[in-house]
Amino acid sequence: MDQASEIREKIDIVSFISEYLPLKKAGRNFKANCPFHNEKSPSFMISPERQIWHCFGCQKGGDAFSFLMEYEKMEFPEALRILAKKAGVELKSFKFDNQLTSEKEKIYSLNRHALKFYQYVLLKHSLGKKALFYLKEKRHMPEKLIEAFSLGFSPNSGSALSNYLINKKGYKKQDLYLAGLAFETGGRTVDFFRGRVMFPLSDHRGNIVGFSARILDEKTDTSKYINTKETSIYHKGSLFFGLDIAKEEIKNKEQAILVEGEFDVISCFKEGIRNVVAIKGTALTENQVNLLSRFTPKITLCLDMDEAGFEATKRSLPLIEKKGLTTTIIIPDGKDPDEAIQKNPDAFKKALKDDIGIYDFLIAKFLSLYDKTSSQGKGKIVEEMKPLLSAVENEVVKEHYIKKLSKEIDTSIESIAKEIDKYQSGKKSEKVAVVTSDKRKRRELLEEYLIALIVQSEDLILALEKVNDILKDYKFEIPSYQKIMDFMTASIKHEAKIDGKKISNGLPTELVKSFDSCYLFPLPSFKSESKYLEDLEKVANELSEINTREKKKLMSKN
Ligand code: CTP
Ligand code: MN
Repeated sequence: MDQASEIREKIDIVSFISEYLPLKKAGRNFKANCPFHNEKSPSFMISPERQIWHCFGCQKGGDAFSFLMEYEKMEFPEALRILAKKAGVELKSFKFDNQLTSEKEKIYSLNRHALKFYQYVLLKHSLGKKALFYLKEKRHMPEKLIEAFSLGFSPNSGSALSNYLINKKGYKKQDLYLAGLAFETGGRTVDFFRGRVMFPLSDHRGNIVGFSARILDEKTDTSKYINTKETSIYHKGSLFFGLDIAKEEIKNKEQAILVEGEFDVISCFKEGIRNVVAIKGTALTENQVNLLSRFTPKITLCLDMDEAGFEATKRSLPLIEKKGLTTTIIIPDGKDPDEAIQKNPDAFKKALKDDIGIYDFLIAKFLSLYDKTSSQGKGKIVEEMKPLLSAVENEVVKEHYIKKLSKEIDTSIESIAKEIDKYQSGKKSEKVAVVTSDKRKRRELLEEYLIALIVQSEDLILALEKVNDILKDYKFEIPSYQKIMDFMTASIKHEAKIDGKKISNGLPTELVKSFDSCYLFPLPSFKSESKYLEDLEKVANELSEINTREKKKLMSKN
């Protein structure tokens, strides 16, 4: 048995996935809201017997490995390592580490080496002296803090890092380009980061996916911050600076504080506020919201509220709502949290304690922007609030704010609610056109349902024989279903007792996927076995009728 199979046997997929998602029992299976697409009613199913999962909404599925790879966006070797540890299996061969090492894994290790180099230059080398002075004196960071965030410095000479990685560590220059650590110009390999304080950007598991880098002196001709260009592992919109360090505290506090920049995170950390992550000057993306929602039910915004920041916040709010997170906001006294903390840490902590609900904040904001006594002003305020309030998932919360708004602008609750309804139904009709409903024909749907009924039946042989009686010369529209039926019919010939699990063990591999999706198909709950069989007969009969009808149609054409 290979090690992956050994691990697969030792890990129960139900308890493993339940560490990530709340599961509900559904007959012999378990169900959950699918983490891989947005949905409100669960179509993500897990079979404890088959040790597999399948989502009927987005059609993804597989075993514990594929779940982890999909969920954590990781490659197989990493998933193997994590699950091996969980299963208490010691991995014997690391062959894949040298030969099959994926590009991702290679960049991770390159970045680790680069970081060691940058740290060495900052803390130990004379080339880092000025940067160390900058961090300690100008940014008030004690060395402990510099170490906690693994900061470094990239020397200003053209290719110090590249030389180190190529000559000392044996990497190829192509690898450096792939990682975004260097680029080629005039036939020379040049470091991408030069003369900057280096911040490693880690994913929440601590893999270094890239760097951000700040200049020492404010110059106008270069940008203050630069970041690794998008690589196969660095995607700006799916990352937070500091999440790897903050995630435990975020879980404990059930709150994540969102700030703009690296120094905001670090200054908060210094003051003992350790549930803080930075979005790095971008608008919050859906990926980021999904990621945070795994750790906390509440987000507290502490972002720039200049015009651009305010617009960005308004845009992200429906995304946060969609994930069911509570949002609050604090306005720091100063340009950003870093400055506010340098000025008065206690005042900042107090502001944090008195965070305000985002909708309270927005209502107050619009009241200050428009004249609430004029009809136009009222119209404007409602205009601004309606897309935001219409996204509120919780009806009680929504009503609370509609009431509040109604009082503030002296307008009836009904007319505000009507405006929100109008907005919502406008949105809905927009959606209908693109809704990807199940386009399959009724015949295909019935076939899937029929096989689901058979393979999930208490008495598979009885169910199959009943169906075969009704569908004597029926040919399944979906070839794989026909093959599954043939296979099952052949299997029961020399078996007295057989169930779905046993069938699947002997199944040709190309049929496994179709079979699994029938095996996990969410069946309604039947009151009794006889009701179950009744449904089975009904479906078989309808298929048989469709078959006859289509045959007749064909004959009349000829
Ligand atoms: N940022 C970035 N790339 C840029 C500009 C900004 O990644 N070209 C990110 C940085 O993380 C930065 C944040 O956006 O910290 C906010 O930008 P800004 O307000 O301009 O920087 P400050 O936080 O004030 O930077 P500092 O405190 O270092 O002066
Ligand atoms: Mn700042």
